[in-house]
Amino acid sequence: MTDMIRKAENWVMQLFEGDSTGHDWYHTDRVRKNALKIAEEEGADPFICELAALLHDAGDDKFHPSEEEGRNFVLNWLSQQDLSMKRVHQVMSVMDTVSFKGGHNSPPASLEGMVVQDADRLDAIGAIGVARCFMFAGHKGDAMYLPSEQPREDMTKEEYRLGASTAINHFYEKLLTLSSQMKTSTGREMAQRRHAYLEHFLEQFYEEWEGLR
Ligand code: ADP
Ligand code: NI
Repeated sequence: MTDMIRKAENWVMQLFEGDSTGHDWYHTDRVRKNALKIAEEEGADPFICELAALLHDAGDDKFHPSEEEGRNFVLNWLSQQDLSMKRVHQVMSVMDTVSFKGGHNSPPASLEGMVVQDADRLDAIGAIGVARCFMFAGHKGDAMYLPSEQPREDMTKEEYRLGASTAINHFYEKLLTLSSQMKTSTGREMAQRRHAYLEHFLEQFYEEWEGLR
């Protein structure tokens, strides 16, 4: 492991100490592992992918007064490191496109951007994704499920979005949409099993809710 990677690890670990919103060090570490795996398969630059994955949540606007200040916080740190300008820009470009932002963010401009975005999204689906979703909802004070607020076939997107926010709602709003938005074929493949797990989880959840099992 390079010194730079170790430095980034230490910096981020210390930033996230004590966080319980799902933006913890272990999320970052899983994203890094996913990113390295995808990078290897896709032939992306492993150093840029690993560094960007480690830093990807450090500028999140949950920890900073604004998105811009969060971005500058990471940029400042990177600029003080022993890195070429080219690499700083490569990492920042990945950082700028990694997040979901309700699906409105601009698409990744580099292969490394695609790799890290897929890596982050993989951690929002599958068993870990389910766990993070319920942790987040609990932290926010949301119910896990309110049956009357569930999306129906005849609802417009708008009607459904205005419904109460619950953990189960978040599956429809985001989690179930992620596997079809993967940017790399490796990410798409890894997402399949995790997506199937989400569907299976919901099926059993509803059955148990109704007392059918
Ligand atoms: P990230 O920074 O990893 O891209 P977010 O900041 O959007 O993700 O969310 C962190 C985690 O919390 C994710 O697993 C996400 O699915 C979950 N989450 C985000 N918003 C909600 C919500 N309204 N209800 C339940 N879970 C949520
Ligand atoms: Ni993340």
